[in-house]
Amino acid sequence: MSIPVSRDVQYILGNWKMAQSLRGAREFLRSWKAPEKEKQICTVYCSYPHLWPVLEAISQGVELLVGAQDVSSHKPGAFTGEVSAVQLAELNVGSCLVGHSERRQYFSESNELLKLKVEQLLAQKITPVFCIGENLEQRKSGKTLEVLAQQLDGFQSVLKNCVVAYEPVWAIGTGEVATLDQIQEAHQFLCEKTPGSPIVYGGSVKPENASEILGLPEVHGVLVGGASLKAESFFQIAAT
Ligand code: PGA
Repeated sequence: MSIPVSRDVQYILGNWKMAQSLRGAREFLRSWKAPEKEKQICTVYCSYPHLWPVLEAISQGVELLVGAQDVSSHKPGAFTGEVSAVQLAELNVGSCLVGHSERRQYFSESNELLKLKVEQLLAQKITPVFCIGENLEQRKSGKTLEVLAQQLDGFQSVLKNCVVAYEPVWAIGTGEVATLDQIQEAHQFLCEKTPGSPIVYGGSVKPENASEILGLPEVHGVLVGGASLKAESFFQIAAT
């Protein structure tokens, strides 16, 4: 079941990457309490082996949604090591990250490949969280908006069904958060470029800076890495 795609919703998304342990996931689930906020979606994106334990906790009443961090670009078949959108749908996974900068950078994921992944997800009614963002060199040479436009190129027809995550690469895992003006400029641009897609910000979001970032008019949520590993800090961000 896909998560809704709407600018009226606030998305609090946690990317556990490969940094969460099973014990850590269980601890998170034991202490997680969703803030009582209307129109807010809290989702954690976990590694495949953790999907089942998280889903089990959700079925027992933990108020959280779970998503996958990646998906195969192929339909089900003989692709050893891959996980298909059909398999994610069987588990009722509602959304999936696509094109995170770590995948673009370390696994050479191209726009063509990402398009196939988005199509596989949408065919199963799983909402893609499509990640884009400039690196430091591109930012320094004034190419940020150009790069963002390039990363959206070819996705116009599917974006209405996607959440877009703007994550400046230089702000991911570095502790260096983009300034409010930088975030505002990129989000304004992306809001105009996309047909109603919600735009979430990611890159060193933590309890201390979440409220000013979430307070910006064109920011429809946050994608949080490090600070999503523990229930307490993720809750503080969601509760701001
Ligand atoms: P960070 O990661 O919050 O640790 O910077 C964000 C992300 O990669 O989605």
